[in-house]
Amino acid sequence: MSRSLPIAVVAALLSGCLLPIASTQAQTNGVSFDATTKVFRLDAAGLTYAFGINDASELQPVYWGKSLGQQEHLPPPRRNEGNASFDLPSSTTPQEYAGWGAGLYVEPTLKATFPDGNRDLVLHYLEYATAHSPKGEELTVTLKDVASPLFVDLHYRIDAATGIIGRWATIRNRTAASVVLEEAGSATWNLPRGTDYSLRYLTGRWAGEWNLQKQHILPGETVLESKRGSTGHQNNPWFAIERGDHSDEETGDVWFGALAWSGNWRIAVEQDQLQQIRVTGGFNPFDFAYKLVPNQQLETPIFYAGYTSHGIGEASRILHRFELASILPQAPTPKPRPIIYNSWEATGFSVNEAGQEALAEKAAQIGIERFVMDDGWFGQRKDDHAGLGDWYVNKQKFPNGLKPMIDKIHALGMDFGLWVEPEMVNPDSALYRKHPDWTLNFTGRPRTEGRNQLLLNLARKDVRDYVYNFLDDILTSNQIAFLKWDYNRNWSEPGWPAVGPDSTEQKKVYVEYIRNLYSILADLRKNHPNVEIESCSGGGGRVDLGILGLTDEVWPSDNTDPLDRLTIQDGFTYAYTPGVMMAWVTDSPNWVNNRTTSLTYRFLSSMQGSLGVGANLDRWKPEDFATAKDLIASYKLIRETVQHGDLYRLISPRDGSEQSATESISPDKHQAVLFTLLHSSHEGYPFPRVYLRGLDPTAHYRVIPIAGSLTKDSLPVATGSYWMDHGVDVDLRGDLQAAAFRFEVVKD
Ligand code: GLA
Repeated sequence: MSRSLPIAVVAALLSGCLLPIASTQAQTNGVSFDATTKVFRLDAAGLTYAFGINDASELQPVYWGKSLGQQEHLPPPRRNEGNASFDLPSSTTPQEYAGWGAGLYVEPTLKATFPDGNRDLVLHYLEYATAHSPKGEELTVTLKDVASPLFVDLHYRIDAATGIIGRWATIRNRTAASVVLEEAGSATWNLPRGTDYSLRYLTGRWAGEWNLQKQHILPGETVLESKRGSTGHQNNPWFAIERGDHSDEETGDVWFGALAWSGNWRIAVEQDQLQQIRVTGGFNPFDFAYKLVPNQQLETPIFYAGYTSHGIGEASRILHRFELASILPQAPTPKPRPIIYNSWEATGFSVNEAGQEALAEKAAQIGIERFVMDDGWFGQRKDDHAGLGDWYVNKQKFPNGLKPMIDKIHALGMDFGLWVEPEMVNPDSALYRKHPDWTLNFTGRPRTEGRNQLLLNLARKDVRDYVYNFLDDILTSNQIAFLKWDYNRNWSEPGWPAVGPDSTEQKKVYVEYIRNLYSILADLRKNHPNVEIESCSGGGGRVDLGILGLTDEVWPSDNTDPLDRLTIQDGFTYAYTPGVMMAWVTDSPNWVNNRTTSLTYRFLSSMQGSLGVGANLDRWKPEDFATAKDLIASYKLIRETVQHGDLYRLISPRDGSEQSATESISPDKHQAVLFTLLHSSHEGYPFPRVYLRGLDPTAHYRVIPIAGSLTKDSLPVATGSYWMDHGVDVDLRGDLQAAAFRFEVVKD
């Protein structure tokens, strides 16, 4: 029987030197190493992730799934020798992080070119170290190229509460010359061999984000990516892979992950000829190059991934908990999102002091907590043709500056937020006339405009400083609680002429731009700790775990139609928590599709996320104010549960569904909230019975309507078991109808 050696001894034996370590005991939680089998294990929250050093010194995956218990001594990984000269072992043996070399035909995680023309990179195990961080137990395994001092530190961090593992790599050049990296992935995740997997991912476009796709994984490769310079509406850097035909919201094995990067990214999901499944992600290798001079290093973004045997619903809940407790800037206890009013759909660019104050007075009456002024307040901004880049208050619209308006908003009991789009410039602006060289561009080539604007090259230090300074100024000279940070186009002509004609140098823009964006956000948060920030990109074009580390909420879509929003919100919650998902009630008919809905329907759609109002309050009737006031008061009673509780997607709004239902339950299970929405009734059939989930089976819950009612024969109070097993009958008929209920534990 093999026995684990104390971890310190192992480290010393394997590396020839003693390394910093966290513990000398094998642990049921955290990181351990079996010296006999040379297998590393990460254990937490009911899962085990294991990989080891094979006889060729490669790092080979061993296991990822339900916890195996520490008594199991996993066998050492063995190289797959293949069975044909066409299947070289370096390619058929799954690796944790494969360099492109020695005949690798699957996705490499790293590819490099050395100055002598060598492009072969073979990474072998060198040493490891463990450490304890506030975010979890960490393991760093160092690999080295077989022939040159190019090192890769593979970082693993496991979150004790969720079992989510964050993986990233630091590539260090210790050679005497420059090395150019042409691909730099964060990690390769390997799943158990098999052919019965399906992949879910999210696609979309402007005003139509968060479409959920599902496809069987077949031999070959599916690439999810952005080549747009930012995260993008078209794909989101999230995946989930389910095994078997019987997986659903609550059952089945699911492996899932998300990349923390807001620039060009790529996740490749492949099944090789031996039915091995790999997911490789990190910087997008498209048009990528990063030159490392001697002693320089590159750190990749973090690629997070987790596992559950309780279906895609639980996979989402695990991600939600992880985002709230470990990713968001206010983690582990983010404040609930204030209920905002935003003027964009009401006033467009025509903002001014009197108009905003009139709206603010009305917003305050219905219980709004934060008043946000959107686009149009600065420079010569009349429409989207001019002004971006000139971040001074427009004197025609605000002759007295912003102060009197902000004071008034405070006096009305709300705080104040402001729209900015810091990374952009209109050619019709003082900034562009002064600094045409500050934009992304290729010398002598046309500059393609999108929404009449160009991108400032944030990778430049002078641009970075300009952007930081004007934002710092605005926040210092005004009492601002919130910035809506917008970003309304994707990149074109991604040149950086100031670093010279060497295209390898210029391509660093893909990394340095995003790093500077993150550093601006981080510095603003440090110097203005009470300011909250929303990430918006023409709706949901920049939502990922990277930006969420620095922003408090996101705008999922410019599409505010409450029926469309049901699928948009449903898709969003596969990857991201409702605690960051802003959802406004706007006007009817909606501008997107001219659909007419009742105010109650609109509220019950938005109340499933972080509620806001964006309607033109100047046109509301007294009864609209009464409805809004009532529902906003109800929302305040359920906000914690909706934003920070566990979400169950009970009936999907997708695929032409006539109904949808979601349930949120508070962590202590004392409160559950049920939203039911009916698209249209057919032939008098009743609304389907809804079976609640996650309640305390023995506790008694009283049902309290927020809007609508249960059928007449429904019990007013029943046990959690009753509501889960017998179910709930909602009285909903007609078209575009909605009802919502609170289930509160009855205290003895
Ligand atoms: C983007 C945003 C909108 C609004 C406009 C302003 O489209 O997504 O919410 O802020 O810009 O120009």
